[in-house]
Amino acid sequence: MTQQLALITGASSGIGATYAKQLAARGSNLILVARDAARLNQLANSLRESHGVDVSVLAADLTQADDMAKVARELRDNHAITLLVNNAGMVVEGEFTDADIQPLQTMLSLNIIALTELAHSAAQAFRARGQGTIVNIASVVALIHEAMNGAYNASKAYVLSLTRNMDRELSGSGVVLQAVLPGFTRTEIFDRAGKSISDIPAEKMMEVDDLVAAALRGLDNGELITLPSVEDMGLWQKLDEACSALLPFISLNKPASRYL
Ligand SMILES: NC(=O)c1ccc[n+]([C@@H]2O[C@H](COP(=O)([O-])OP(=O)(O)OC[C@H]3O[C@@H](n4cnc5c(N)ncnc54)[C@H](OP(=O)(O)O)[C@@H]3O)[C@@H](O)[C@H]2O)c1
Repeated sequence: MTQQLALITGASSGIGATYAKQLAARGSNLILVARDAARLNQLANSLRESHGVDVSVLAADLTQADDMAKVARELRDNHAITLLVNNAGMVVEGEFTDADIQPLQTMLSLNIIALTELAHSAAQAFRARGQGTIVNIASVVALIHEAMNGAYNASKAYVLSLTRNMDRELSGSGVVLQAVLPGFTRTEIFDRAGKSISDIPAEKMMEVDDLVAAALRGLDNGELITLPSVEDMGLWQKLDEACSALLPFISLNKPASRYL
């Protein structure tokens, strides 16, 4: 078996740090990416010690072009990499219209532009090698417009759509895709956005260890879309079938009769 080497973005805390711990426990070597080098080095040392795996640290701000290029280059040139966990992301709290535009731009640059560039680099490199896995961390808010910040939800809908399209394109190439759609998960993301985690009902909040364990199990099982807390995946299938039923009618050569 090929030795796994996973590059994880946003590995200094929360979901990314938990992927690092659980993948190290499975014997995977790691490249940890985030801005906070001190935190990454601390995690790297503890994982080397506890699991005997190779861990390197790549400090990068993925909203900055030079840093971004460094990480994309690593994905292209380091032929040992077998897995990208495209996880780094942020949320802007409050309604879209009320939010300042600058944090919204930073969020879109991280959640969409950086994720896209890394997915693109990994897709080209993995396809050329005939193997590799790309895990994109979306969110259940990709499916909703009833709450949260519209630009955040839309950024996660983008991740879901990109992943499904990449899966179609790369089918048969040896490249495996997974979109993970977490619901509320206990991490620092709420603090960072100035929201109190205690405002969220406990029954809606998953522990981060459970979330990542479920996501990895979903990957093991070959899932393209992982909805960690949804028991009845028939509900997802129905939603998908409803979209498919619309397909024959969404692009025709004349308007519907209500417009005539
Ligand atoms: N927690 C939830 O409820 C939830 C639900 C659905 C989806 N998600 C998604 O899960 C992913 C991980 O979030 P989390 O909950 O684990 O949040 P978190 O604990 O705040 O972790 C975010 C990670 O991203 C890194 N990061 C932030 N800005 C960055 C930048 N400019 N460049 C590079 N790295 C950056 C942070 O590290 P540094 O500060 O060191 O850079 C940190 O490692 C995100 O994509 C999020 O949208 C979370």
